[in-house]
Amino acid sequence: MRLKRGLILGVFSAKGGVGKTTTVANLGAALAQKLKNRVIIVETNMTASNLGLHLGILDSPVVIQDVVFGKIKISDAIMPNDYGFHIIPGSVAFTSELGSIDLRGILDELTKKYDIIILDSAPGFGLEVFAAMKTCDELLVVCQPRVPAIAGTLQTFRAADRLKIPVFGVVLNRVTGKRFEIPTSDIKRTLGWSTMTVVPEDDMVEEGVTRGIPVVLHAPKSPAAIEYRKLAQAVLAHLRARKRIAPRRKRKATERGRRKKTVKRT
Ligand SMILES: Nc1ncnc2c1ncn2[C@@H]1O[C@H](COP(=O)(O)OP(=O)(O)O)[C@@H](O)[C@H]1O
Ligand SMILES: [Mg+2]
Repeated sequence: MRLKRGLILGVFSAKGGVGKTTTVANLGAALAQKLKNRVIIVETNMTASNLGLHLGILDSPVVIQDVVFGKIKISDAIMPNDYGFHIIPGSVAFTSELGSIDLRGILDELTKKYDIIILDSAPGFGLEVFAAMKTCDELLVVCQPRVPAIAGTLQTFRAADRLKIPVFGVVLNRVTGKRFEIPTSDIKRTLGWSTMTVVPEDDMVEEGVTRGIPVVLHAPKSPAAIEYRKLAQAVLAHLRARKRIAPRRKRKATERGRRKKTVKRT
């Protein structure tokens, strides 16, 4: 049993192609190994959805756009998978103009059922980005060691600041160590941010995307998978510290209680 509502963690960056969707899929998969069926990842990139593709979902019968357009309830858009977490994918078909979007009421439903709700987002600062950002308790910002991505990260920090949403951490992704890359120490200084997950460039990530399996499951020993698992551990520790999930001892006791009740009934 959870003590409080689940945490809505948004994964953002103004720059596209830096690894937001990859981070969401892998963080969801890695957290599910500890928080079975209590993790959900949600597409909020309404116009160019591709989160489902990272899990091999090519054409989902239920999509977030149907929820936003009021055609179905959010509970009917949830898809479980074999990896112990849930997903609300988006439509890979072209979606017409959305008009205004209000995700707050919609996503709030999920906080009753899940310990953590991880949002994938669109790049830039369009309507859909702000609609998603406004629902978040905290943000995870994805960056690459390249000048445009760092500029995008600073823009995302400013947007978060304006909405008064705390940034939980920064993921520095696709680090190759090549000469033209901005050194990690310089990035930390520029961003004023010391705790960062550094994920290396790793072919296994792309191989996993092609197979529709997040790299933490596809190639658990690969360098990128190891770093994504460390990120998941940091998020888990944060959830425990914020009492978003019950301490392990208490949860086990609750689970034992539940099992006893089941035995009695049968
Ligand atoms: N650490 C990594 N190593 C190699 N390829 C990566 C890594 N992270 C992401 N990619 C690849 O980069 C591309 C863009 O990543 P994606 O997660 O879609 O970015 P975004 O969601 O920010 O647009 C994808 O093809 C993905 O497989
Ligand atoms: Mg993406």
